[in-house]
Amino acid sequence: MSLVYAVAHRIGLTPWERAGAASAGRAAALLAREEAERSAPRGAPHGSALDLGCGSGAHAVALAERGWRVTAVDAVGVAVARARARALAHGVDVRVVQADVTRMGPELVGGDVDLFLDVGCFHGLRDAQRAAMGRCVTACAAGGATMLVLAFRPGRRGPLPRGADRADLAAAYPGWDLLEDAVADVSGLPLLLRGSAPHWYRLRRS
Ligand SMILES: C[S@@+](CC[C@H](N)C(=O)[O-])C[C@H]1O[C@@H](n2cnc3c(N)ncnc32)[C@H](O)[C@@H]1O
Repeated sequence: MSLVYAVAHRIGLTPWERAGAASAGRAAALLAREEAERSAPRGAPHGSALDLGCGSGAHAVALAERGWRVTAVDAVGVAVARARARALAHGVDVRVVQADVTRMGPELVGGDVDLFLDVGCFHGLRDAQRAAMGRCVTACAAGGATMLVLAFRPGRRGPLPRGADRADLAAAYPGWDLLEDAVADVSGLPLLLRGSAPHWYRLRRS
């Protein structure tokens, strides 16, 4: 999957950005709930957030603008450069790290993370990668951390993401409880992917 993303980022074929812009209102509402439920913020007003597979950083920048202390990680160098440029252009402080979410640890991306955001990363990984990502994320999580995951429903899509459902999340994140599974907006997706039935999942570290 990373080779596909490396090529996609290099040639600027990033349809998920349009989808993200179209569903920005829903994402903002999900973040507002995280903020409302956080009674004892540490450091930054709402705590620390880690954007997993940040791409060109739209969500990381939105988090920072909302007052989170943000680290963003992506495996693709072009994406990392774009995310850094976006943060600079918006005048916000986002630490962008080039790393693999299946190999990162607190020493690389920071520990005690309060909120993880995964918009379209987990759902493209193979099973072994998902298990490794689950271990890495859990190692970086604060007690009671929450995670928002956007994933297509499972399906055969050639080089496109294979999707993930609640059982896949439960397998990769055994130390987490699934709090919510809600249908996501498809309006910004290319026609080809409108049947992918993306869902927003919310998990909390047990
Ligand atoms: C569908 S894109 C979404 C990007 C961004 N979250 C957004 O919504 O604009 C998925 C991103 O995950 C990144 N990615 C995929 N596998 C990864 C891995 N193992 N480690 C880090 N990043 C990865 C890709 O490079 C890509 O930027």
